[in-house]
Amino acid sequence: MSQDYLQFIERVHTKTGIDLSQYKEAQMKRRLTSLREKRGHDDFRSYFDALENDSLLLNELLDRMTINVSEFYRNRKRFEVLEQKVIPYLLQRKKKLRIWSAACSTGEEPYTLAMILNRHIPLQQVEILATDLDGHALGKAQAGLYHERSLKEVPPEILKKYFRKEGSTYRVIDEVRKSVTFKKHNLLADRYQKDFDLIVCRNVMIYFTEEAKKTIYKNFSHSLIDGGIFFVGSTEQIFSPQTHGFEVYDTFFYRKWQK
Ligand SMILES: C[S@@+](CC[C@H](N)C(=O)[O-])C[C@H]1O[C@@H](n2cnc3c(N)ncnc32)[C@H](O)[C@@H]1O
Repeated sequence: MSQDYLQFIERVHTKTGIDLSQYKEAQMKRRLTSLREKRGHDDFRSYFDALENDSLLLNELLDRMTINVSEFYRNRKRFEVLEQKVIPYLLQRKKKLRIWSAACSTGEEPYTLAMILNRHIPLQQVEILATDLDGHALGKAQAGLYHERSLKEVPPEILKKYFRKEGSTYRVIDEVRKSVTFKKHNLLADRYQKDFDLIVCRNVMIYFTEEAKKTIYKNFSHSLIDGGIFFVGSTEQIFSPQTHGFEVYDTFFYRKWQK
């Protein structure tokens, strides 16, 4: 790693608490280099000097680092497995469920979970924690207002029941919004809560180094109750789940071993 980029990473870490050395280097460096060049800086040192005194530039960098793309029912087939197989399995074991949507971005994922769970149980019996590193994304999540493009996978009956049209946008109804608690959390640095029945963490592990992934899998495993389920993204199969105390439950779903 070049000295210039290494120092940049250290300075970003001190300023924002985000440790870019735990993200895959080539990919992240490419993203940040193109932004740096767009802002007219020949090296990372002068780019950092500039953004230290310019909150707009800093926010732009944060935006580039945290890739917030999301949508409701992302990879819809997987959510069908969740609805038809995973949730009935979890409800057989417990009446109330505790769920964590980790790296939830702008909220599409935890709201999708609430809508699916509500097909089985009243939302009062569900506790959904939704976290992300990016406070800006969490603000949007709390507002619950979405453009049509993030709703294209939503089944028509769900759209009708849980959204209200506001001009050209759609707002998630209060009952669903109230069932989700949003909180800032850095998967690489903060303490993990415990006793979850289901953890959903999708489309963020791909950005982390192998070392970082191992630590996160171990933490998730400790955060689940025995027999709890871990749901990953559709390019994020775990290479050897047993190393982290998991077994395959279905494609992209892992179950924590029961003692
Ligand atoms: C592509 S989005 C995934 C959103 C959603 N899970 C989905 O699958 O549609 C990735 C999210 O990971 C978040 N993220 C990146 N690094 C993180 C970290 N260290 N801790 C928590 N969230 C992080 C970003 O802020 C971004 O919102």
